[in-house]
Amino acid sequence: MSAQIINGKEIVSSYRAEIKEEVQSLAAQGIQPGLAVIIVGEDPASLVYVRNKAKACEEAGMYSEVHRLPENTTEAELLRLIRQLNGNPRIHGILVQSPLPKHISEERVVEEIAVEKDVDCFHPVNVGNVTIGKDAPLPCTPAGVIQILKKINVPIAGKHAVVVGRSNIVGKPMALLLLREHATVTVCHSRTPNMEEITRQADILVAAVGKAKLIKKHHVKPGAVVIDVGINRLETGKLAGDVDFDDVLETAGYVTPVPGCVGPMTITMLLRNTLEAAKRSAQAQPAVKA
Ligand code: GUN
Repeated sequence: MSAQIINGKEIVSSYRAEIKEEVQSLAAQGIQPGLAVIIVGEDPASLVYVRNKAKACEEAGMYSEVHRLPENTTEAELLRLIRQLNGNPRIHGILVQSPLPKHISEERVVEEIAVEKDVDCFHPVNVGNVTIGKDAPLPCTPAGVIQILKKINVPIAGKHAVVVGRSNIVGKPMALLLLREHATVTVCHSRTPNMEEITRQADILVAAVGKAKLIKKHHVKPGAVVIDVGINRLETGKLAGDVDFDDVLETAGYVTPVPGCVGPMTITMLLRNTLEAAKRSAQAQPAVKA
């Protein structure tokens, strides 16, 4: 039997329509969620991501501004811009696109972003909140994966979820969010011996390593849900995920396409976090009644 290809476009467009409606109802109260995206340097892939994020904001009726800084921007200059944005009431979310040039510390930069405007959920306080299960913004890619599983009605509780990859952006928070949904979670990484013995036990397999077509059919249990977070540029110029899509198609129960599923869902979660940040900020500073 052939796997069902998860229809990312349909999931994303219905989710974004809900967000847009909420943005419209906030507009009636005089509030427009605002996102500031900062990019340092000229990395072509990052420039595309940033453009897509700003475009998605505009389509949802949100305000967005993109700050394009030259490669030789100093860390002090970047921190100064972040502090300005922290104090700007028009801006509810701040995102600094990574990777940053080597002379700038990503850790230092993330710590400068106001916790309540950290829509990427990279600030140590937000990471801590996710870890202890506190109601707080969720990291965009892992939150998007959970939403995809929910939209296709895949039960998570009690299932064995295997995450391949242990990055701070995806692998680690992905494991935490699956745990919050009551899955039994295993994390595999570059030092895991006989990885296929573990991945073959997965009811839900999430690949987030950044290695094109690493996951083949011998890694996949028949009927498993395979979520591909990877996005890799092949020598041919084409994009490929971490999953060998054609190879797993006959074995998996469900599989996500790359591009067109986890990527746009990540941006959708960014919109959701920006909207929620705007709502929290409005609650913190209620309009003065006459
Ligand atoms: N670079 C690759 N993915 C991301 C992301 O989700 N957020 C930011 N800020 N940078 C990225």
